[in-house]
Amino acid sequence: GEYKIVVTRKIPDESLDMMKKYGELYIWPEEEIAMPYERLKEEIRNAHALYTNVGDKIDRELLESAPHLKVISTMAVGFDNIDMEYAREQGVAVGHTPSVLNETTADLAFTLLMAAGRRIVEGAGYIKEEKWKSWGPMLLTGQDIYGARLGIIGMGRIGEGVARRALGFNMDVVYYNRNQKPHIEEEMGVTYCELTELLQTSDFIVLLAPGSEETRHMIGTEQFQLMKESAVFINVSRGTNVDEQALYKALKEGEIWAAGLDVFEEEPISASHPLLSLPNVTAVPHIGSASIATRKKMAMMAAENLVAGIKGEKLPFEVQA
Ligand code: GLV
Ligand code: GLV
Repeated sequence: GEYKIVVTRKIPDESLDMMKKYGELYIWPEEEIAMPYERLKEEIRNAHALYTNVGDKIDRELLESAPHLKVISTMAVGFDNIDMEYAREQGVAVGHTPSVLNETTADLAFTLLMAAGRRIVEGAGYIKEEKWKSWGPMLLTGQDIYGARLGIIGMGRIGEGVARRALGFNMDVVYYNRNQKPHIEEEMGVTYCELTELLQTSDFIVLLAPGSEETRHMIGTEQFQLMKESAVFINVSRGTNVDEQALYKALKEGEIWAAGLDVFEEEPISASHPLLSLPNVTAVPHIGSASIATRKKMAMMAAENLVAGIKGEKLPFEVQA
């Protein structure tokens, strides 16, 4: 074809097949190794379309070296890794994959909530490391989930999904959001709460705010100090929303009880990061949307966005920001 399409990871074949008809594909052959920035900068020089993901940094410098680019399609809902302002200025359309991953990500949030609350990873390690000598009255005891109070920060569709799951555990669900959502309150019986009160009263706190300059370090020293000493803090949004040094200190000094983390300030997080040395941290590598079915759907949606962008049509799932 007359167009060049750069794909920064190995993705499912069906998605590649869809795009093949519309241009010459350059595909970075690795699935688990990011395309190096300098390499991407080179490949994008004469490209018309970019198929990317949360592991690539699509900044102004990169976009400046791509004068022919018509469309950026990210296989993610979040787009904080893309310089949206500059893309808009240059007339580059940006597409993402909202909605399709809501329930899968809510599943992971609840998985982390339960795993951290009941010390599942620690318990599994206990057996494998041959530490288990006998049943112990207080051995590996955790926090009750059934009937506890859950505070959700950022009540979008993923937050709604988490709330729906929590109701099955008879949890008392409160939420904080920039805009109050009366229809959700009515439908699910959840309660709006100012952030301070949410932090002070919740047994489990799930952070779902999108990543942006405004939300950077929105949870830090002050917020951890407000939380209960028994609080379990879950982050499935963006690592940059949390001050990790403050989180480490809060966990280490017992200001909060445990954390379940899917995202980190820097990804991949180094195995020698202090947070990972703590037994009360349950950490997974940014797998919120990672079910087989959902990832395949996301890969297709991103391909549809890219093809529309190449044709100069409106993207079916254009970033609204
Ligand atoms: C993953 O974090 C996404 O934004 O889809
Ligand atoms: C953010 O990702 C949200 O859905 O609240």
